[in-house]
Amino acid sequence: MNVLKEKGIPIEKQIRTWHDIVKRPYNRMDVDCYTRTRQILMNGIETEAWSFKHCFVRKSSDMDLNKLIVNIRRIEDMQQTTVNWLSPVNQTVLDTTLGYEQVAVDLTAWLAQNEPDDYVKETFNFGLLEDFDHLYRYAQFAYLIEETNPNEILQNKTDVLIGRPTQNHHNDNGIRIRKPYDKDKTSPVTKVNILTLISGEQQTHNYYAEHGFMYGNTDLKRLYAEICDVEEEHVTMYETLIDPNESMLEKLLIHEFTEVCNYYNCYKDETDEKLKMIWEEFMQMEIGHLQVAADLLQKYEKRDPEEIIGTELVLPCHFESQKEYVTNILENEVDKRLGEKENYMKINELPSSWVSYKVQEKTAADGAPSEQAVKLAAKSTGRDIACADEKLLKKQSELLERGLEKEAQAPNTVSTDKYKKFDKILPLNFLK
Ligand SMILES: [Fe+2]
Ligand SMILES: [Fe+2]
Ligand SMILES: [Fe+2]
Ligand SMILES: [Fe+2]
Repeated sequence: MNVLKEKGIPIEKQIRTWHDIVKRPYNRMDVDCYTRTRQILMNGIETEAWSFKHCFVRKSSDMDLNKLIVNIRRIEDMQQTTVNWLSPVNQTVLDTTLGYEQVAVDLTAWLAQNEPDDYVKETFNFGLLEDFDHLYRYAQFAYLIEETNPNEILQNKTDVLIGRPTQNHHNDNGIRIRKPYDKDKTSPVTKVNILTLISGEQQTHNYYAEHGFMYGNTDLKRLYAEICDVEEEHVTMYETLIDPNESMLEKLLIHEFTEVCNYYNCYKDETDEKLKMIWEEFMQMEIGHLQVAADLLQKYEKRDPEEIIGTELVLPCHFESQKEYVTNILENEVDKRLGEKENYMKINELPSSWVSYKVQEKTAADGAPSEQAVKLAAKSTGRDIACADEKLLKKQSELLERGLEKEAQAPNTVSTDKYKKFDKILPLNFLK
């Protein structure tokens, strides 16, 4: 459908009662894992919609325009409250964290496979292996602190094992900056894909920053600090793919279009009847926002919105198991690193003067929390917490051998030999 021709709900009818804003949460025990990932992602999408409109008004001196934007911004904020507060009170911070990394892995894999721009796709695949490793590190603590089988949350849809080791994710932030797309040549699919992923990564960063202190275990707090910092790098990496020459009204249009597409995709896929109704209602609201953004672009810039977002909907957040795709990227790209010229390199091609070595040496000088997580799990259970088919599990030591930089290693790094020992001990029965 051409969404620009749809009417949606008019802005003046979008204010809701407090009773309607705060809905009953889903049930931790029987929610489908991909219902939870949709809820986590849409919270991030709404937070981005809200914060972008604050940036917009701070740069605009047009009072009429600003009045319109702040009123829509309040709607975004109310939507964000509804969506985020669907989380049940008995879903722990670590449960939710596993959900966040499941979003990152399965969403990024979906986007990469549907991304028409090769450089953007390569960047998605690069980030994918880092979030995949985060999931593995957090799973160690979810078991140790809360006795959680990762599959209570992941429901066997996403594997848990070593990826590109987290201690190697810390870069000189300058080399995270990517080459931007050209706003006049790029497909609307690319624009929506990137903004969707930025929203998810930014939300992940914010969640870790706001919740990492909520455990009394210092090693776990340090792990949240370490991974929160990587998510900050991920936001840098993805947001710099956007053409900085887009006007603010053009960006507004892309934001509203991204919201419409994501709610449509959620509505289409949702299995929970109550959430499906929310996605449908919010999609209709977003079509109302999109109408306003399209009118503003025509009025202030005399531009045709179709030139920017095209005439077809994008599907930016279809969730399904991506084990096969992720395994393929893992086996082929575990030794990939960021070059200093907005490019990618293999570990053995990096110069000894590579700028990120300095950052890694400094941050891991007292030990890497992401290595400590595995050390503690191994001490308690004899091996790491990992869930995948046996063939893949037995490749962990080989993956580590290829994926770990020899330089700037944390003093507490779990060795390849130790992983070879893990290979000989089957995972705990409950992980099967
Ligand atoms: Fe919204
Ligand atoms: Fe992550
Ligand atoms: Fe991430
Ligand atoms: Fe919106």
